Amino acid sequence: MVAVHTAEPGAPGELAERFEAVVAAEQRVEPRDWMPDAYRATLIRQIAQHAHSEIIGMQPEGNWLTRAPSLRRKAILLAKAQDEAGHGLYLYAAAETLGVDRAELTEKLISGRQKYSSIFNYPTLTFADVGVIGWLVDGAAICNQVPLCRCSYGPYARAMVRICKEESFHQRQGFELLMTLMRGTEAQQRMVQDAVDRWWWPSLMMFGPPDDDSPNTAQSMAWRIKRHTNDELRQRFVDMTLPQAQHLGVTLPDPELSWNEARGSWDFGEPDWSELQRVIKGQGPCNTQRIDRRRAAHEQGTWVREAAAAYASKRATAGKQATASKEKESDV
Ligand code: 3HC
Repeated sequence: MVAVHTAEPGAPGELAERFEAVVAAEQRVEPRDWMPDAYRATLIRQIAQHAHSEIIGMQPEGNWLTRAPSLRRKAILLAKAQDEAGHGLYLYAAAETLGVDRAELTEKLISGRQKYSSIFNYPTLTFADVGVIGWLVDGAAICNQVPLCRCSYGPYARAMVRICKEESFHQRQGFELLMTLMRGTEAQQRMVQDAVDRWWWPSLMMFGPPDDDSPNTAQSMAWRIKRHTNDELRQRFVDMTLPQAQHLGVTLPDPELSWNEARGSWDFGEPDWSELQRVIKGQGPCNTQRIDRRRAAHEQGTWVREAAAAYASKRATAGKQATASKEKESDV
């Protein structure tokens, strides 16, 4: 972790002090408040990455929308994908309160200048992957995101409240799907175990690099954007997930998992951090496909954005004309 700085060099002293006091008192920083440039930049970076993850995150499961095994499963999956789109929208809206434009963020994503979560660069090979994404990926997202409801930046914290409620539903639907498969045939049970084997380590990597290799954590914690380190949240996730795996009857693919009586926590093995770095750099199994699809969707949506802008400007002109004629009438 890197050194923490507090007030911005050269910042107007009183404003910087007020900012520090608001953060220290667990109050919220709001869009019109003064804030250090680096605080603003950190929030834009994190919120944009988070928004991009929600939007790109629709692709792996979207792969199964037309092949869900029943109408009920299809309806559930559609509702979940729509929730993710909504999360993306709340988060882009939160980022916009910091003075960036959503179009600019999308442009940065599709040109590879902004990141999204590593987890969405893995393929969904069977329908059990849909259940495992709900259980493990959304489970990891909840561990990481519930503390963000207490983030120091008001619009981000408030967006997270609703997002977390929906993520919690997503996690339970994943678990319910896996329970159904685990009560099914041996082939279905094997399918679940295979999906767990493929998603376990990438899920642990979602929390980011280990603390001693995480350049942003110390400063983000000092500003109360992040409330826990990457390793703390990873441990919380492992402890939460182990009893659920036992209940499901699946084996987690880590021979080093063992209960540590003294710590009151599970010990677990080290993820392959070189794999995380490769995936972040764009060399994961599906990075190219994910960005190509996002770029194509953005281009195909040009006419919708143009039509919406034309409609908005037509309404604005009509509104102005109506106000002008009302003013004329009242003059008479
Ligand atoms: N995937 C891609 N990049 C990652 C990463 C991951 N799993 N973990 C870390 N990184 C990147 C960071 O963004 C940072 O790069 P940058 O400085 O260029 O932005 C670099 O690796 C170093 O990592 P740090 O730990 O120093 O970075 P942070 O302090 O930002 O911590 C984080 C990373 C824990 C992901 C934090 O940004 C965070 O909590 N973000 C909000 C939650 C989020 O974005 N979740 C993504 C998943 S969304 C989701 O799960 C959707 C749901 O529907 C399933």
